[in-house]
Amino acid sequence: MTSIPQNTSAPLATVQDLSVRFISRDMNVPVVNGVSFSLQQGEVLCLLGESGSGKSVTMRSLMRLLPPTAQLGGRIEVGGIDVLNLPRNQLSRIRGPLISMIFQEPLTALDPVYTIGQQISETVREHEGISQADAMRRALELLELVQVPSAKRRLAAYPHELSGGLRQRAMIALALSCRPKLLLADEPTTALDATVQIQVLLLLRELQRELGMATIFVTHDLGVACEVADQVAVMYAGRFVETGSITDIMDRPAHPYTQGLLNSTVSESLRDQDLASIPGAPPDLTALPPGCTFAPRCPRHTPACDIGVPPLLGNAGHQSRCIFPADLATRVATESVLSPAA
Ligand SMILES: Nc1ncnc2c1ncn2[C@@H]1O[C@H](COP(=O)(O)OP(=O)(O)OP(=O)(O)O)[C@@H](O)[C@H]1O
Ligand SMILES: [Mg+2]
Repeated sequence: MTSIPQNTSAPLATVQDLSVRFISRDMNVPVVNGVSFSLQQGEVLCLLGESGSGKSVTMRSLMRLLPPTAQLGGRIEVGGIDVLNLPRNQLSRIRGPLISMIFQEPLTALDPVYTIGQQISETVREHEGISQADAMRRALELLELVQVPSAKRRLAAYPHELSGGLRQRAMIALALSCRPKLLLADEPTTALDATVQIQVLLLLRELQRELGMATIFVTHDLGVACEVADQVAVMYAGRFVETGSITDIMDRPAHPYTQGLLNSTVSESLRDQDLASIPGAPPDLTALPPGCTFAPRCPRHTPACDIGVPPLLGNAGHQSRCIFPADLATRVATESVLSPAA
């Protein structure tokens, strides 16, 4: 098993060899292939990777929020519960009190016909059986916690009556309403404009620390990862291709794909250098190459890369799914192997 480095205490969440395949009469697509990691209480893991690499499907697997066409394999254990084998009628044991999710677009998660107050208070009542008045009081506290201005008035607002930033805050309040031990934040700020993005991000980081929640944060944005992550997993074509601490990933990226991501990101340290794009296109998931899935786009590609999927190599804290040692891969990446951006 490959893993994000662990402390000695039992992890809150363990994912072992997770695979997800969408199967129907005219499709059979493997979208997550052997993902493994573990997460301690209070730890923040960032999932990085380009569109379609399997980040959201991995997150939804943790909540069992995938359609019946999804066939799941492997094992997911959160708070001692075997998530994949939990009977459907017991899913409310995990959704809310144990694991909660903030979605990229709050309108898909908020119900348009109920007020914000009704939605939060009903969720609390469902899980805690408290009175309606107490639940509404809790809803107010939660809106205040996520810094919604005029919170009392907003309790009576419908989702469409709020701005994008306020809706996202209401969504965060809803996600926190059952005091989850594990928060899944799937690109929680990408739908917002830049200044609101930073506010919501800082708020989330503050709440995460204050409430001590373990968090998995999905983002395309390395700047966001730097702000929030303890650990990072870089995903490509449904696999983790590099795992490590945020410092390892930013200062010593070992996989050519991670290096490509860093070189194509605007940052202060790269101010005087050309931005580089990663040549080629993401792979067709229905026809993955037999060896390294990044090989067709990789500057370091040799015939040896096409023989079997490389294992994650390195030390327990920093691993890369590349057959070349990290120092060599780093050297290659700096030799202008990535074509300048158009
Ligand atoms: N319900 C579904 N049925 C069939 N295929 C799906 C379904 N949901 C996702 N997929 C496919 O699974 C793959 C991974 O999707 P996923 O949403 O996890 O990507 P992602 O990494 O979250 O991308 P993005 O950054 O764009 O959100 C994609 O090829 C997507 O088309
Ligand atoms: Mg996604």
